[in-house]
Amino acid sequence: MASRFQFNISATDGAARTGMITTPRGEVRTPAFMPVGTAATVKGMLPGSVAETGADILLGNTYHLMLRPTAERIAALGGLHGFMGWDRPILTDSGGFQVMSLSGLRKLTEEGVTFKSHIDGSKHHLTPERSMEIQRLLGSDIVMCFDECPALPADRERIATSMELSMRWAARSKQAFGDRPGHALFGIQQGGLEQDLRAASAEALQEIGFDGYAVGGLAVGEGQEAMFGCLDYAPGQLPHDKPRYLMGVGKPDDIVGAVARGIDMMDCVLPSRSGRTGQAWTRRGQVNIRNARHADDPRPLDEECTCPACRTYSRAYLHHVTRSKEMIAGMLLTWHNLHYYQELMAGMRAAIAAGTFAAWQAQFHALRAEGDI
Ligand code: GUN
Ligand code: ZN
Repeated sequence: MASRFQFNISATDGAARTGMITTPRGEVRTPAFMPVGTAATVKGMLPGSVAETGADILLGNTYHLMLRPTAERIAALGGLHGFMGWDRPILTDSGGFQVMSLSGLRKLTEEGVTFKSHIDGSKHHLTPERSMEIQRLLGSDIVMCFDECPALPADRERIATSMELSMRWAARSKQAFGDRPGHALFGIQQGGLEQDLRAASAEALQEIGFDGYAVGGLAVGEGQEAMFGCLDYAPGQLPHDKPRYLMGVGKPDDIVGAVARGIDMMDCVLPSRSGRTGQAWTRRGQVNIRNARHADDPRPLDEECTCPACRTYSRAYLHHVTRSKEMIAGMLLTWHNLHYYQELMAGMRAAIAAGTFAAWQAQFHALRAEGDI
């Protein structure tokens, strides 16, 4: 096992790249999709099943775990990996973004953010220093800087002020993280949809120096066209030789467009969350298995998919258990969706390596245009 965190690019095709992140806990093939395991579980999936879908790395959340069961409790029990039964790499988000989207009553100062728990209303404080401490207690392999992300649309003044605060917090995060061989710290670029603010943010982060760089502050209501507009320049503002992580994205076509623009890592709750509401993602687009047209359909969700839901069950069965609110419904659709997302990543990695990514993208869009049949 490698004792250090490394990133190697093995091939590029246009702006797209494929390669490998190496950590002491294992390798992450890039472009990588990270399933979300917010509360120390990918809901409805055993860790072994998540690995079977092809996932190399999971995402965990500082915000949720600090509130329940607490980072100190997880540390006393030996860390997040053993606690949740996942021994491969884990990346943890730093908490600031979730405070803004989930908690009640927040107060933001230069020091950090004070907020009320969405679980029981109790009062908590997060700073760059505390976020680094929590992520260390959890045993996270890839630690994210503590940042702030304004909802879009926001005026330029607000975006600039917020980005500058995030850059000061990035410096404090680096200082507090210290020297931890085998563990990586990623900076987070902010700056909304303003190209010059994104450039200033990228410069400030590189001045501090990180093991990887995230593009933050996107997929916050701006729409795909605006997001792609930003991704046409944002990844190029970050170092070529370090992983680039687009946070919180996205739908399959968002992911493909992001990879085409030079993104190496992504995470999103979509495949797991939408699986629990009867939404499936296939090569032909989105399928709502609750729809009455599936009630008598003996075919699998996707003829070519090798996941347990598609190998074992008919659309009629998946329709029935979803309508009946059976536990297995969410389990099977989550498994299928995560499997589909990982197949998508594997397909892109192979196409980039072969230098055929443009053709692969054309085929991806052509099948979706045909729709579910
Ligand atoms: N998740 C999605 N977007 C963001 C962001 O801008 N910052 C953080 N910390 N997490 C995110
Ligand atoms: Zn399937």
